[in-house]
Amino acid sequence: MFNHAVIGLGGMGTWHVENIQKKVPRLHVKGAFDIRKEAMDKTERLGIKAYASLEEILNDPEIDLVTIAIPNDMHKDTAIRCLRAGKNVVCEKPVTLNSAELEEIIAVQKETGKLFSVHQNRRWDRDFLIVKEAKKQGLLGDIKLLESKVQGSRGSLEGWRGHKLNGGGMLLDWGIHLLDQVMQLDPGKVVKVDAHLLKVFSDEVDDNIKLALLFDDGMSAILEMTTMCLINTYRWHVQGTGGTLLIKDWKCNGELWQLKPDAEMTWDEDIVYTDAGPTRTMAPRPKYTMNQLDLPDVRGDWSDYYNNVLDVLEGKAELIVKPAQTLRVMNVIDLLFKSAEEGHGFACCI
Ligand SMILES: NC(=O)c1ccc[n+]([C@@H]2O[C@H](COP(=O)([O-])OP(=O)(O)OC[C@H]3O[C@@H](n4cnc5c(N)ncnc54)[C@H](O)[C@@H]3O)[C@@H](O)[C@H]2O)c1
Repeated sequence: MFNHAVIGLGGMGTWHVENIQKKVPRLHVKGAFDIRKEAMDKTERLGIKAYASLEEILNDPEIDLVTIAIPNDMHKDTAIRCLRAGKNVVCEKPVTLNSAELEEIIAVQKETGKLFSVHQNRRWDRDFLIVKEAKKQGLLGDIKLLESKVQGSRGSLEGWRGHKLNGGGMLLDWGIHLLDQVMQLDPGKVVKVDAHLLKVFSDEVDDNIKLALLFDDGMSAILEMTTMCLINTYRWHVQGTGGTLLIKDWKCNGELWQLKPDAEMTWDEDIVYTDAGPTRTMAPRPKYTMNQLDLPDVRGDWSDYYNNVLDVLEGKAELIVKPAQTLRVMNVIDLLFKSAEEGHGFACCI
């Protein structure tokens, strides 16, 4: 049994406490600290200690692990203080505002030998696990074109997420999740990036964005995050040389079609006349040349993130979300911000 404390008892900090209490019996949430009184009022309902300050947590020798769930601009200094106080640290995403800040944390992590990991919980999302499993089983051949999209219509980003100073904006908020997922899917180097960061509702931060990445194995990824979309398209569309996978929505409804290796067919030389106009190149493929497969039956649980962290602390496992992986994602994010600023893409090797 490890003792745990949460720093920041807002939306996500409260989720951490409740989820651990329900699903992670090896971890005991001893208490939490938040600068807001209304947030601290929740400690009674949650049945945890109300720490009076961050120092009190850091000086409590019983605390083995802390989770940092405060606005993004405060992650770096808080993580460094916690590591220096001898605590193992889980930090919410985005770990920092840029890669230089993360490098400072990693230097202190190495110096102290404590665990440091970022809560990239969306590695356990079912839609992502389906795509990962389809790739692992080779169901799509070589994946060449991948699109991953989250589309909403809430408009502007709320609270501190709408402020640049606090590390707000969509690239740092959701971009980090979609980038982390796609960089997990393709273990190769990122060799080209491009970003369109729109400020539709905000003067300060990007709120509707499109990112393009090219990997050294030839896979191209387009990532989209919007807040003005009334008609959603799909969550994932993945095209490989041997198949196509579609995940339509958050419920993971979708389809997977594979080319039949032995289907004999020749494409019609004639032009096809569609309502939109004539075409030969884009003529529909006959169904008998394809097999429809069930989507891989995989499921994840965000609690598995903490189970892995605890296994690492018990010396039984390797850390899943490693600082070096997060640093690669932050290097890509640095370049995406630069791309948006300068209005062109960049070749790279990340
Ligand atoms: N992994 C995920 O799926 C996920 C989802 C939501 C949020 N997050 C991340 O969690 C973090 C918090 O986001 P949120 O949605 O909970 O925000 P929030 O605004 O709901 O909560 C933040 C809390 O931090 C408190 N706080 C601010 N400064 C503090 C300080 N110095 N010491 C202690 N408490 C302080 C605030 O009073 C507030 O209660 C962010 O980094 C965010 O990106 C991650």
